Amino acid sequence: MESLDRHEDYGQELLDESQLLSDPIEQFKIWLKEAEEQQIYEPNAFVLGTVDAQNHPRSRTVLLKGVDEKGFFFASNYLSRKGEALATNPHVSAVFGWYSIYRQVLIQGVAELASAKESDDYHFSRPQESQVAALSSQQSRPIESRAALDAQYERDLERFAGASPPRPEYWGGYRIVPTRIEFWKGRTSRMHDRIEFVRELNADGGFSSWSIQRLQP
Ligand SMILES: Cc1cc2nc3c(=O)[nH]c(=O)nc-3n(C[C@H](O)[C@H](O)[C@H](O)COP(=O)(O)O)c2cc1C
Repeated sequence: MESLDRHEDYGQELLDESQLLSDPIEQFKIWLKEAEEQQIYEPNAFVLGTVDAQNHPRSRTVLLKGVDEKGFFFASNYLSRKGEALATNPHVSAVFGWYSIYRQVLIQGVAELASAKESDDYHFSRPQESQVAALSSQQSRPIESRAALDAQYERDLERFAGASPPRPEYWGGYRIVPTRIEFWKGRTSRMHDRIEFVRELNADGGFSSWSIQRLQP
């Protein structure tokens, strides 16, 4: 087998507990901003992992559209493969891979449906063509040809004639409410830094405070 090993040196810049904020969501916002400043292409893209009712895992890229103390917001089709998986199993993983700056953030948590208002606000903030596309595409369902897909979209564009369509009930936001957030920083000789924040869901539905631990690389 041809070797793909490039022995890349991930650098000396270290990641130390003392550099990190005690709130990992606030810390994530700083890393996201730094990824933007470093001109990472689509820094808000992440790989979302789900497990469906048959226990089959599946991962795909989606875009982070907002982050606040409640969690990580993205939008999709509720009847897509990910939507069907999330309806039976809300446990998810999320990977932000900012490889060119030797950083990665791993998130585990539970995806909940965003409120109708949050989904509406996001839907109506999008370009009209994207609003129509969300309505027009039965995401993850087979279609016989590209021509059929284009015809379906053209019909819907004509139907709304430049106006905003209402948000389809099968499309909207999700929020990943995190229970684990790991900050990973590549280091020389594979002796990477990994710092993980963990919190527990309490019986009353609230969360414990975040605890922090260093993991071996
Ligand atoms: C950079 C990038 C960004 C994407 N952003 C989204 C997104 O925000 N929402 C979405 O539903 N699909 C997005 N997609 C498409 C998904 O990767 C995927 O094809 C789609 O959601 C269907 O996935 P599913 O069949 O597993 O549900 C994006 C793809 C790429 C490559």
